[in-house]
Amino acid sequence: MRFFGLLAIGAGLVSAAPIVSDLAIPAASELSSRQAGSACFIIGNTVLPKETSDFVNQLRPRITCNNSRRTLSNVPDVTSDGVSFSSINFATSSQAPLQFALSRFATPTPLRSANLAQFQRQLDVYIATEAGIRSVNGNLAIKVPKFFLQFQISRIQTAQGNPPRAAGLQVNHLLEKVLKNSPRESQLHEQVRALARTLA
Ligand SMILES: *[C@@H]1O[C@H](CO)[C@@H](O)[C@H](O)[C@H]1NC(C)=O
Repeated sequence: MRFFGLLAIGAGLVSAAPIVSDLAIPAASELSSRQAGSACFIIGNTVLPKETSDFVNQLRPRITCNNSRRTLSNVPDVTSDGVSFSSINFATSSQAPLQFALSRFATPTPLRSANLAQFQRQLDVYIATEAGIRSVNGNLAIKVPKFFLQFQISRIQTAQGNPPRAAGLQVNHLLEKVLKNSPRESQLHEQVRALARTLA
């Protein structure tokens, strides 16, 4: 009797499904399958901002996922050319995000001697993890170290004679992003401003 009732409910759901999908679902399901198929770190269906999905397309060929190790918001641990997010995850540090970024992603003197490729791999795994977090609408505290890495790369490129052209990648623009997203660490802001003035 009970079994029969469940079957009837199931049948009702099946027959209702096409009606629902004819109305509102097609665009969303199309989108989710496009996102799910696009990259191993996009674990959810939340629509990504265009800038993020552009990054996902660029990163996809460079990133591998370890599904048996999860990091923030259950995103798989991502690796770019030997650098894993889990090995530089700010959230497993005892330091606050900006403090962690300043010490872990410090640049050498002279600035032009920095290993740009290594900074780029570190940024890759931060951006991939942020995209995964956004796909499930998770907490975006990762933005502080992510912006800081972009800021450091912009400084290094400038010191190496190849300053970025895009407005969004200028040192001072990224400085503002770092500061705006870390109001609780304002005691460190002068240190970040000093870095923005050190471009050689
Ligand atoms: C994936 O993560 C598991 C669990 O931490 C680990 O044992 C394994 O070595 C990792 N695989 C790779 C390819 O890094």
